Amino acid sequence: MMRHLIFSLLVLLTLTMTAQENRLIPAPAEWSPETGSFNLTPTTFLLARDMQAFQDAVTFRDICIDWFDFPLKTAIKEIGSGPYIEVAYDSTLDLPDGGYILVIAPEGIKVTGKADGGVFHGLMSLLQLMEPKPDRTISIPCQTISDGPRFVWRGMHLDVCRHFFSVDEVKQYIDLLALYKFNSFHWHLTDDQGWRIEIKQYPKLTEVGGWRNGTMVGRYSDQQYDSIRYGGYYTQEEIREVVDYAAKRHINIVPEIEMPGHATAALAAYPEFSCTGGPFEVAQGWGVFPDIFCPTEETFTFLENILDEVMALFPSSVIHIGGDEAPKDRWKECAHCQALMQREGLASEEELQSYFVQRIEKYVNSKGRTIIGWDEILEGGLAPNAMVMSWRGTEGGIAAAKDKHQVVMSPNNDCYFDHYQGDPANEPLAIGGMTTLEDVYNYEPVPPGLSKEESAFIIGAQANVWTEYILNFEHVEYMAVPRMIALSEVLWSTNRKSNFDDFKLRLARNLQLLDRQHVNYSRTWQTQ
Ligand code: ACM
Ligand code: ZN
Repeated sequence: MMRHLIFSLLVLLTLTMTAQENRLIPAPAEWSPETGSFNLTPTTFLLARDMQAFQDAVTFRDICIDWFDFPLKTAIKEIGSGPYIEVAYDSTLDLPDGGYILVIAPEGIKVTGKADGGVFHGLMSLLQLMEPKPDRTISIPCQTISDGPRFVWRGMHLDVCRHFFSVDEVKQYIDLLALYKFNSFHWHLTDDQGWRIEIKQYPKLTEVGGWRNGTMVGRYSDQQYDSIRYGGYYTQEEIREVVDYAAKRHINIVPEIEMPGHATAALAAYPEFSCTGGPFEVAQGWGVFPDIFCPTEETFTFLENILDEVMALFPSSVIHIGGDEAPKDRWKECAHCQALMQREGLASEEELQSYFVQRIEKYVNSKGRTIIGWDEILEGGLAPNAMVMSWRGTEGGIAAAKDKHQVVMSPNNDCYFDHYQGDPANEPLAIGGMTTLEDVYNYEPVPPGLSKEESAFIIGAQANVWTEYILNFEHVEYMAVPRMIALSEVLWSTNRKSNFDDFKLRLARNLQLLDRQHVNYSRTWQTQ
């Protein structure tokens, strides 16, 4: 009995020590700690074996300067004498794409990665393990990691319409995504309260649509507004800069251009593309607005021209066209819309929305890209090649997967980081809802009831950060972190143990990295 007890205590102690020593998030597939450490000094070379790996090496060098003020020497060459970090691509590794092997030994470090992102993901694990010392060297504990992602779509979204965030802030957001091995940034660029992307052919979209003459303040039910002009937008040059910044971190940016709804800012600039002709003002309050794009030939030309410029800026194979929350009131009363329905044999306004989306899909497909839309695009019939982002729960995603369409899960219960993360009495005003860190950690993207074949259409998940009640970037960080860290493990880790206590231990250590970066993360979870 006593021997049993001592044995159990020893096991517990070993497990606890292992858990405490490991601060890597997302947890790697295979991890074996070893004794000793590698010491990074100013003479350590970062050596790349090929051009692809060299790109990652240069990005990593930049990150090390930012994090540790530590300039690593970087070169493409074979290992000579002295300490080294070696990086190389290897398409033959027996790992999923994006996977890597990281070997940290006293004499050197080797990162081998497979396909797009593999080496970089390995370097991000390395970054999480680096411990700066007072003598300006960096110590890294010896270990071997073999790792690769569970899902191919690991996404975070940011709404820059309700509140606007600078290029530098968007880059800081991308830095966070990179550190936790996300590979998709959904940039919500247009909405009722602001149009945030320069379109050369239609300058009024940003000159007029980029600005509002006031903003709702406080609770929705108070209906209070300030009268301060608010707005901003990204020039095409800035967009290119951000796309390039993200690409170097193996993050694809999925731009969202909302249609046919959430279009008030666009219609304030160009009311001729509405059903009534306007006039309209850029929205100052939150919610769903009745004036949406009218499906005339002129409107389709307008949207196609916009999409041309968007596709020239974003290399993403997937373009988000919105599709959510489009009230049909105007279409019901519009002579053009009703005549079009008659001519096309459309039985309802939902079918008219489906016609709208299918026309846009045809255009986007003709340019070699795929559309993704919020799950409302299922109503009235899903466009043949469309991907679906399931936000009103999982039903839309399940239906789309059964219909053999690729699905990104983003159900509001688990993936809306604008929700409260703790007792509203102790939290800054939020839109509502309750999504705790533990809810996110325990989230399973593949819903029950799908066959193996159907489950394969669930390609990942994404969390959304809508910013009606998020006024500045520090507050974005507070809402996103650490919930996005929990989501990273859901999306990446193939051997998730669903042990929230162990996760919290690793998280506490991991967040010390963000302390160094002055990230304003939430501590609400510590009292839950
Ligand atoms: C959404 O939250 N309206 C997609
Ligand atoms: Zn109309």
